[in-house]
Amino acid sequence: MQISREATGTEVEASGPLYARLAADLRRQIQGGLFRPGDRLPSVRALRRERRVSVATVVEAYLALEAEGWVTARERSGFFAASPARAATPPPEAQRRLLPPAIVDVSEVAIQVLRRSSDRGLVPLGCASLHPSLLPVARVNRALRRAAAREPLHGAVYDSVEGCVELRRQIARHASLGGVACDPEDLVITSGGLEAVNIALRAVARPGDVVAVESPTYFGILQAVEWLGARAVEVPADPVEGIRLDLLEQVLRRHRPKAVVCMPTCHNPHGSVMTDVAKAALVELVARHDVALVEDDVYGELAHREPRPRTAKSFDRTGHVLLCSSFSKVIAPGLRVGWVDAGRYRARVEVVKSVTSLVTARLPQLALAETLDGGFYERYTRRLRGLLAGQVARYAEAVAASFPDGTRMTRPAGGNLLWVQLPGGADGSAVWRGALAAGIGVMPGEIFSPGGRHRSFVRLSCGAPLDPEIEDAIGVVGRLAAEAVRAAS
Ligand SMILES: Cc1ncc(COP(=O)(O)O)c(C=O)c1O
Repeated sequence: MQISREATGTEVEASGPLYARLAADLRRQIQGGLFRPGDRLPSVRALRRERRVSVATVVEAYLALEAEGWVTARERSGFFAASPARAATPPPEAQRRLLPPAIVDVSEVAIQVLRRSSDRGLVPLGCASLHPSLLPVARVNRALRRAAAREPLHGAVYDSVEGCVELRRQIARHASLGGVACDPEDLVITSGGLEAVNIALRAVARPGDVVAVESPTYFGILQAVEWLGARAVEVPADPVEGIRLDLLEQVLRRHRPKAVVCMPTCHNPHGSVMTDVAKAALVELVARHDVALVEDDVYGELAHREPRPRTAKSFDRTGHVLLCSSFSKVIAPGLRVGWVDAGRYRARVEVVKSVTSLVTARLPQLALAETLDGGFYERYTRRLRGLLAGQVARYAEAVAASFPDGTRMTRPAGGNLLWVQLPGGADGSAVWRGALAAGIGVMPGEIFSPGGRHRSFVRLSCGAPLDPEIEDAIGVVGRLAAEAVRAAS
């Protein structure tokens, strides 16, 4: 990819404040090759001494450069030079146009994509989960064995509809990390995060109703709306700032949806994290319009910076927010355990759970309760956040080096996904098909909105440590992207 001067993002004026001048100096040094991609940059303390400025000034300079793509931060390791190619890859264009509510029809394509992506032989750039080597597999297996020994009848009896109290107690204890004061009685355990979203939606909306969804959004949310028989109205989400609150307000006034489904922390596919101010405004907005907010927080623990961001639910004073989450993205996707903290809709959620899957299997719940006990979970998720920040940055470098000129790509603040926009309206689905034929899984953008607005995107997962095989695969996908661009021109 060639570098053009104007493609380097928001340049901080060298004549501006102190941090901006420092940023300009550092940028020049990276551009001039003094620091090559991957090189460690001077520590905050060293720069503070050398430049006689405050720690805050140095950190601000680094954060400005990170926003431009010149620097990547790695938790506890410091700041590293990114490649000029990465800095030259701007974020995707934000959408502004509102469309009327529409019937959702993504399931047929989504199931084809899912069926073909589940092949474990594929290079794993498609599936959004983390590689098993990053998950606490041995600890979970030990907890499963101990739980089975303690409760040999776990499979011979039904658990309660709301789920096992030991686990609800642990979730309530850890919910305070997201800023929510939560009681075990508030929670209903579900069989995974997607069941949580389906149940939450069914508790607040009926067939024929309008449900507001972000655009783009996770296709599982769209399928939930589709099979509820509701119509979806898309609210553009900004790749950095999250759902556009001004457009959401218009949608609330114009279409009176029964629910808004949103991922304020580590959005799939953007990886954006809304600020606390924006989350509070979102919650105030839905409360003012008396609309339920289904908050999908399954990636909430995976923001790249400490501390773990607050949930929108933590700003909820009226009970309008149904917080849905699971252990799938951090501990064990195969155990299929999630939950809903449903506010004023708690009783309805319990009824819908009882008619959906009745109860969730008890053994995984017991094992997860044990895994959450003690300080392990906090230590582990802190380590995971730092590790993912570095891993996603390395993937972004590889994509920037392999994809054609004009490609745009998110700079995720959390999670393990990159959302890549091909230039010239090139067809992301053609790239998906070509990649599959080459033994590589990626996700086509067309399944991330009901109206197929995101056809020129592909989503890449950075869930596995980057190795030479994956780097080669990113090269292949980059060449397929270049072919798609040629075909579109
Ligand atoms: C945003 C989002 N919500 C929910 C889910 C499903 O979570 P679970 O596996 O816990 O059902 C996913 C899975 O990829 C997801 O990306």
